[in-house]
Amino acid sequence: ATPLVIDTDPGIDDALAILLALASPEVDLRLVTTVHGNVELAQTTDNAQRVLHLAGRADVPVAAGARDSLVYRQPERAGHVHGKTGLGGVDLPPSPAALDPRPAVVVMAEVLLAAEAPATVAAIGPWTNVALLLATYPEAAERIGRLVLMGGSAARGGNVTAAAEFNVWADPEAAQRVLGSGVPTVLVGLDVTLPTVLDVEGIARFAAAGPVGATAAAILQQYVDHARTSYGTTGVVLHDALALSEAIVPGTLGTVRRDVVVDTTLGAGRGQTLVDRRSVADSPTAVEVAETVDSDVAVEFLVSRLAQLARS
Ligand code: BDR
Ligand code: CA
Repeated sequence: ATPLVIDTDPGIDDALAILLALASPEVDLRLVTTVHGNVELAQTTDNAQRVLHLAGRADVPVAAGARDSLVYRQPERAGHVHGKTGLGGVDLPPSPAALDPRPAVVVMAEVLLAAEAPATVAAIGPWTNVALLLATYPEAAERIGRLVLMGGSAARGGNVTAAAEFNVWADPEAAQRVLGSGVPTVLVGLDVTLPTVLDVEGIARFAAAGPVGATAAAILQQYVDHARTSYGTTGVVLHDALALSEAIVPGTLGTVRRDVVVDTTLGAGRGQTLVDRRSVADSPTAVEVAETVDSDVAVEFLVSRLAQLARS
């Protein structure tokens, strides 16, 4: 199995992404690091520990990372989407496991350097910790086999502003640092996540499979309600879980090599990912941008894996 590190800000779709990784034998989850984002760092960290405990995997180490973005304070959180505590108001039992007291980047570097094979890193919150890792432990960053990033948008505009997707908008300077690093990267943005909608029938399937599935469905209820009131839709978009699908099964998404820069100015475009789609890029810092997805296959993958986890 491929060694896996998840860097995350749970977050409802983050929680589902973690469960998906735990349900997947192709990867071996070695570490979860947490970052500011959907809610405050202390809360994302507690949530990550509780989600692991829910799945019976409190043994997976957790380390807390950046409390805020690199340069400017993160403008706002996303409690209105994820519920005040970040997990849709569901009160999961606290984890008995202790947090690794060291900063996330220190533990990340240790895990990457100790791994017997190049690891996959899935970054599904703002990319502040990844930027700090690149700056602090370049030799560890070289051990990343694939960096799968959830964030950005090539052609769909933003979801927080007209221009910006949440994870990039929450730390544009970090995003620019990460996208320009030359680490082998897959960028999973709104172009592929937005069309990939999990409907209530899919949720019902894993909800019925066992207690973990039922709890995952309860966490999702806040998202379902938010989608209904904000967009008038009955399905939900699990951005981070789709990124994890690509981390677990490379090639899940159709990608094209592109040059990408981030708008780090302070104007209306701040946080936009400018994806150069005029041609296929050959520069060393180009990234694989996910442009196509078979959404039915991706949703079925998620639902069947979560149902399996719930039954185990
Ligand atoms: C991203 O923003 C967060 O709210 C989600 O967890 C996801 O990582 C989608 O734009
Ligand atoms: Ca997230």
